[in-house]
Amino acid sequence: MSTFTIDTRTSRATPSPVPGKRMTAPSIRARKVKGKTEEPIVMLTAYTMRTAQLLDPHCDMLLVGDSLGQVIYGLPSTIPVTLDMMCAHGAAVVRGSWHALVAVDMPFGSYEGSPEQAFASASRIMKETGCAAVKLEGGEAMAPTVDFLTHRGIPVIGHVGLTPQAVNVLGGYGARGKEKQEAAKIIADAKAIDDAGAFCIVLEGVMEAIADDVASGVGAPVIGIGASARCDGQVLVTEDMLGLFERTPRFVKRYDDLASRIGEAARTYAEEVRARSFPTADQTYRPKS
Ligand code: KIV
Repeated sequence: MSTFTIDTRTSRATPSPVPGKRMTAPSIRARKVKGKTEEPIVMLTAYTMRTAQLLDPHCDMLLVGDSLGQVIYGLPSTIPVTLDMMCAHGAAVVRGSWHALVAVDMPFGSYEGSPEQAFASASRIMKETGCAAVKLEGGEAMAPTVDFLTHRGIPVIGHVGLTPQAVNVLGGYGARGKEKQEAAKIIADAKAIDDAGAFCIVLEGVMEAIADDVASGVGAPVIGIGASARCDGQVLVTEDMLGLFERTPRFVKRYDDLASRIGEAARTYAEEVRARSFPTADQTYRPKS
């Protein structure tokens, strides 16, 4: 059961201290006109309220990615991620944002069975989180599902190229489309979900030439991750670009080195506790003199 009410003016779960109008699926879709996107679309992942608050002013979209399986829960892949996890984190991100469109990933096993199964899962995600869109992986095989959802009030972001939920079929997380046949399949996948009504498409881990063909071949904006600058926008996993992990994929640019900074702060704290130099009078409750 949801624990909040939605402010219908801002689409925010609790009224924003800075009322504003949230980005919508149509407003994102409209950013691409006659095959061109004037200003690239900015998307980052968020899984918590506070991170959402910090990212929201800078982003057009926040993605509650199922990458939270690895990033938050230490799971080996996105396969074990559940609808319960996505709903809990999705609601937190909606509560922490007021400007960006929040999209929530549909986890593995929650939508592939049939369009009806996808509708049941997606409608639960939207009711429990207040998000404005869902994302699902897959191309031609998922086109009827994308069509089913979009005709029933659920905006859908597609995801083609490297699709991490299919890791067991793909055999790893390497870039896709190195061979002609696979490149053609990725382009056909993107066209199929574009025709089915996806309002934008995440294109992950592909050769630049494929990104070129996809971005120029579909009407919906293409949001790249490891897919070159040819796309209509970019998305990264926030923890990757903040440098929270020792290893990051080649396509990630590190904008900070938070792992070192957090480690350094924890080391200083531990030293001060052991030396009894924290807490000082400044951090201590005493009667006022
Ligand atoms: O789960 C996720 O974070 C994603 C992005 C990498 C696009 O799908």
